[in-house]
Amino acid sequence: MNILEEIGNITFQMWQKGWDEYNAGNISYLLSDDEVDEFEIIESNRFINFENIPNNLRNKYIAITASGSHFRVIKDHLDDLTGVIKVADTLDCVEIVYGFNNSNYPTSELYTHLLGHSSRLKVDPNHKIIMHNHATEIVAMTIKHELDELKFTKTLWSLCTECIILLPEGIGLMPWMVCGNRKIGEESALKLLEHRVVIWPQHGIFSAGTSFSDCFGLIETVNKAAKIYLITNGELNNVLSSENLMEIKKDFNLTIREGII
Ligand code: 13P
Ligand code: ZN
Repeated sequence: MNILEEIGNITFQMWQKGWDEYNAGNISYLLSDDEVDEFEIIESNRFINFENIPNNLRNKYIAITASGSHFRVIKDHLDDLTGVIKVADTLDCVEIVYGFNNSNYPTSELYTHLLGHSSRLKVDPNHKIIMHNHATEIVAMTIKHELDELKFTKTLWSLCTECIILLPEGIGLMPWMVCGNRKIGEESALKLLEHRVVIWPQHGIFSAGTSFSDCFGLIETVNKAAKIYLITNGELNNVLSSENLMEIKKDFNLTIREGII
């Protein structure tokens, strides 16, 4: 199965979870040299301007979903609704080098994906994927819970034991911003320097990871905790205490984000 087929599979699974209504969500994957060789790369002369490209992205090939693509059906239209872009060597642009047939173009969240990859590559040499969707309970929790990053993380950690183990660095929480532009991409990329999960209030979630399963699992974990928060109506009587969380930290030898417990 090539990477685009894998994107078709995982996007369908995301849609099945109810996280990707209509065209919600986008995914991008940094291709290795061997993975690039599986595609018949072309010079399409279809460029997308992108100023101030980070140096660590120059000449990289990235598989990515199309803007407006419905995750329910991507798997049935891979050559239209996905493709590969190449970041230019010196110019301020990326070029479509495979796919995106029938006048399709990469996601409108290209800034967050590219700048996010650049951030994660600086801190994780095994980084491969940025995944975005509109996970329902996470969005709902941003409406009910105070939008303070440290408090939000502490609530998530205190709701189920595995949350702090999987996300000892906590979650990054953005202020609400208009989506699809460079500014939200830059702010998200700053968060991604320290976090693998970044939440956009009243919108959705981004995760960064080394495999599709990794990214999917991070979102599932946060969404599960958010769901528990909502099911219990935020009445947090018997949550994990700070002492409990410290016990987990000690036993699992976790380096956790300062200022939360
Ligand atoms: P695209 O269809 O352009 O990928 O946008 C979907 C989305 O989730 C915007 O945040
Ligand atoms: Zn979105």
